[in-house]
Amino acid sequence: MNVESTTGHDITQAAPEVRDTFGRPLQDLRISLLDRCNFRCPYCMPEAEFDRDYQFLTRRQRLSHDEIFRIAAIAVGLGVSKLRLTGGEPLLDKKVADLIAQLSKLQGVDDLALTTNGVLLPPVAQALADAGLHRVTISLDTMDEDIFSHMSGNRGELAKVLKGIEAAEKAGLTPIKINVVVQRGVNDHTVLDVLDHFRGSGHIVRLIEYMDVGNRNGWKLEQVVPSLDLKKMIQTRWPIRAVGRNYPGEVASRYKYLDGEGEVGFISSVTEPFCGACSRARLSADGILYTCLFATAGLNLMEPIRNGASDAELADLLKNVWIERKDRYSELRALQPAEKPLISKVEMYRMGG
Ligand code: GTP
Ligand code: 5AD
Ligand code: SF4
Ligand code: SF4
Repeated sequence: MNVESTTGHDITQAAPEVRDTFGRPLQDLRISLLDRCNFRCPYCMPEAEFDRDYQFLTRRQRLSHDEIFRIAAIAVGLGVSKLRLTGGEPLLDKKVADLIAQLSKLQGVDDLALTTNGVLLPPVAQALADAGLHRVTISLDTMDEDIFSHMSGNRGELAKVLKGIEAAEKAGLTPIKINVVVQRGVNDHTVLDVLDHFRGSGHIVRLIEYMDVGNRNGWKLEQVVPSLDLKKMIQTRWPIRAVGRNYPGEVASRYKYLDGEGEVGFISSVTEPFCGACSRARLSADGILYTCLFATAGLNLMEPIRNGASDAELADLLKNVWIERKDRYSELRALQPAEKPLISKVEMYRMGG
């Protein structure tokens, strides 16, 4: 974080700020460790397509931990201060704690988080915390066991995710955020139950508008429940009030329950796009750097790394791609009349949410 002196000058700037064509700094790197997942959520990896014959990346096709660490260190040198490990399911990587131990030693990282579906957390949560992970975000779309099972592609059990959340809490991987993707006609009628369950727990539920990521989930605008509708519904049960963002570029808008029972967030990428402050880059498991969640193409970093590029050369590649960045997909989508796909996009399980 930068601190201003009384003369208004930045006195603690550790890394140069790299800004894109809209003046947005590079602050956040989301790293997908692998494209596999133990769930088959229909909105992300529909079972019919991701069956036994599906060719996931092989170990050789994925960045090694040393390669990931190298890219992360270079990104931190360019101003990144937030790192998030994602997947697929990042806990399928048996050595994830070792990578965390490396990343947590990077000077300048003030937030090191991991997004998981939670079921593999219980045996490893403490080891992740000991390695230096700060916090976890857990995907949990409903408290209804049957709907949960359906939304995980019949691979997940609600009770196991709840055990994962308990384990994360015990290990101090807090604040824990609970991500709920809301889909009309699927789980929207169960949203209040999720809030009810976590109110007063200290965990922060975030209600996410279902997005048109990738090309395979058959997204339709009518399946999106606008955050505004959810806010109205919540107000009638538990009054809430808006509070400010925790940091510039935070994707969730935060609300507090007036009765002091905690906080709920809304991620409204469809109805209220937040591209204006988007400071996130994404590194896929196969070493491509994307500057937008909805990108069609990215910068191949694996190739130069494996061809012996120096740190300075890699830093230049990364810097130049950010400087030229013009992405604002969600804003452009909002200007589109219907759900006609704008482009052919990279799948989310591949580039990491
Ligand atoms: P915090 O660091 O806790 O603020 O988390 P986060 O909200 O950045 O990350 P998380 O991985 O929990 O993402 C929550 C939801 O927001 C997911 O559905 C993401 O795909 C979505 N999301 C995150 N970043 C972006 C983004 O840059 N653009 C869009 N459109 N959606 C995003
Ligand atoms: N729309 C919104 N969120 C999604 N996620 C996965 N697919 C979608 C989608 N189509 C969420 C996951 C996870 C987060 C990283 O992204 O549930 O919590
Ligand atoms: Fe796996 Fe998460 Fe995709 Fe579900 S949304 S299939 S848990 S990566
Ligand atoms: Fe950033 Fe692209 Fe999401 Fe807009 S759509 S907030 S530019 S990742």
